[in-house]
Amino acid sequence: MKDQDIVDLSWDDFDEMRDPRPDNNGFDAVVERAISRRGFLGGALAFGSGALAMGSAGLLSSTTAARAEGAAFTFKPIPIATDFDIHVPEGYQWKVLVRWGDALFSEAKDAYSPETGVSVEMSDKVFGENTDGMETFTDGDKTILAINSEYVNPKINLPADSEGMPKNADEVTLLKNMQGVTVMEVADMGNGFEVVVDSPYNRRITHETQMTMDGPAAGSDLVKTNADPEGMSPKGTMNNCGSGKTLWGTYLTCEENFNGYFGATGEYEVTEGLKRYGIGGEGRYAYEKFDTRYDLSKEPNEPNRHGWVTEINPLDPSSTPVKHTALGRFKHENAEMVQAADGRVVVYMGDDERGEFMYKFVSNGTYTEGGSTEGLLSDGTLYVAKFNDDMTGEWLALTPETTGMSIEEILVFSREAGSKVGATTMDRPEWIAANPLKCEAYCALTNNKNRGVKTNAGGDEQPAMGPNPRETNNYGQIVRWRPEGEDHGSDKFGWDLYVMAGNPTVYDNAYAGSENVNEGNMFNSPDGMAFSSDGYLWIQTDGDDSNEGEFAGQGNNQMLIGNTETGEIGRFLTAPNGAEVTGLTWSPDKKVAFVGIQHPGGSWPDGAGKPRSSVIAVWREDGALIG
Ligand code: FEO
Ligand code: CA
Ligand code: CA
Ligand code: CA
Repeated sequence: MKDQDIVDLSWDDFDEMRDPRPDNNGFDAVVERAISRRGFLGGALAFGSGALAMGSAGLLSSTTAARAEGAAFTFKPIPIATDFDIHVPEGYQWKVLVRWGDALFSEAKDAYSPETGVSVEMSDKVFGENTDGMETFTDGDKTILAINSEYVNPKINLPADSEGMPKNADEVTLLKNMQGVTVMEVADMGNGFEVVVDSPYNRRITHETQMTMDGPAAGSDLVKTNADPEGMSPKGTMNNCGSGKTLWGTYLTCEENFNGYFGATGEYEVTEGLKRYGIGGEGRYAYEKFDTRYDLSKEPNEPNRHGWVTEINPLDPSSTPVKHTALGRFKHENAEMVQAADGRVVVYMGDDERGEFMYKFVSNGTYTEGGSTEGLLSDGTLYVAKFNDDMTGEWLALTPETTGMSIEEILVFSREAGSKVGATTMDRPEWIAANPLKCEAYCALTNNKNRGVKTNAGGDEQPAMGPNPRETNNYGQIVRWRPEGEDHGSDKFGWDLYVMAGNPTVYDNAYAGSENVNEGNMFNSPDGMAFSSDGYLWIQTDGDDSNEGEFAGQGNNQMLIGNTETGEIGRFLTAPNGAEVTGLTWSPDKKVAFVGIQHPGGSWPDGAGKPRSSVIAVWREDGALIG
């Protein structure tokens, strides 16, 4: 494969290239198993005894009843779209809040050009590309947003003669600075908010920002480098995907596909740890050719300093971000923090790769409002989820006793630790969202073409079972679990599927989706998720927007709202063709929703020139709450 082709691959396809499926995948056996699963699927979707055991009425019957009674939403759901625009329901307005390249400081007001993009000189003073997770913070009457920029499109950022690969160190710097985190103040001017240019809160955190590490793996030999022989002072955060907000008001940014930034210019030892995380060979963006930090043959431990959950205090621009090793190292999607009944801190986390796991961290200390937060994200236990076919599940502790690994190894190579205890291989865990009104949480399992086809990168089988019931799953599903005793600190739970995406106009089997999916609301690849304070589940998609074949009738990527009591799902927003919808937070007064539009196609939103990833603001014309 030529250099310029690598940059066109999705992260999913990049992983596939590193770990291709076998030519002969035993197709007959797969079909045989798929057929034998149909009986189970019927049972799982009917939410029979398992759901009742959790104290819940069966989703299927309540969905049907609610549908017969009429609308369950305060908006009129909208049809699909296939254009290069945004659509929201009647009675709602939207506007662009901030675009890739928009200035955070007045000195960068001319940093963006429609012809050439962002200048390298100003690249750390503007809003980054490919917006993703975000959270809202307040300081007195000030509103501050912290927003991830997940990755870059090199062909959009670099001059045409680079053909999508940096040809010098400046171009590497540009690509690095277009990722990371933006902290910025926004002000309510009565029109969906505006960025406060030159606000003292404004800050960019990039691949170069100085950080610290805490938790058991900080300072271990696994994270020491030539530049940091103590292993305590890593630089930079990268591929910042989903987000989280701590109970004490700081931002959690989650490092996802960090593997692709590393490559080798010479000999290096190909370890199990590198292989399991898809690290090796040639990097996606040729960083290693211009910066030894990314060169495995010079700094073999540098990749171990990425793939963490990093905490940022958005109210203090001089604060040093902290990488929390106690939360494990994997392709972190987001970090959903809740509290156990006894006050301990619980963080739910997904590892977004085909056949990887779902995790939770539970602190040893307890949190009380205004109390010390010391150790709450550095001292505790990491667990991995095991789902049983009988709709029960358990959290398995990852300890030296259960894994035979040292605590440093468990945290740096969490995937291997999860494999050792028999965690359940999942259909790409994306965002996890906890219901603020009851003790339950949801994880978007976006899709998994390898389910029933091949093992994960660690050799763990991926049979169709439990919450991952379909072979070659191109649609995805959302699993919900309810902790035993209504306590997020419990190590046991019951589970069901809130929704199985599918296409009822193409299929009449399990691939048609669950009963709450119909021709009017269908979608594929659920990804971003967040609960509004009124207990509705907002679902964002990152899937196939071809509107053809098995995706016919599903249109562009979209944001839907789910009623978790009735199961009903209605479409709220459609994105421009090419874009995924990812990242969602609300203004402090809950009257405005901020929504991320990543990798749009065409020339959205400017109407000419390059497509620009943006955060939009959405509000109701009558000023009613929407969050
Ligand atoms: Fe960055 Fe798994 O989405
Ligand atoms: Ca995502
Ligand atoms: Ca995704
Ligand atoms: Ca993405």
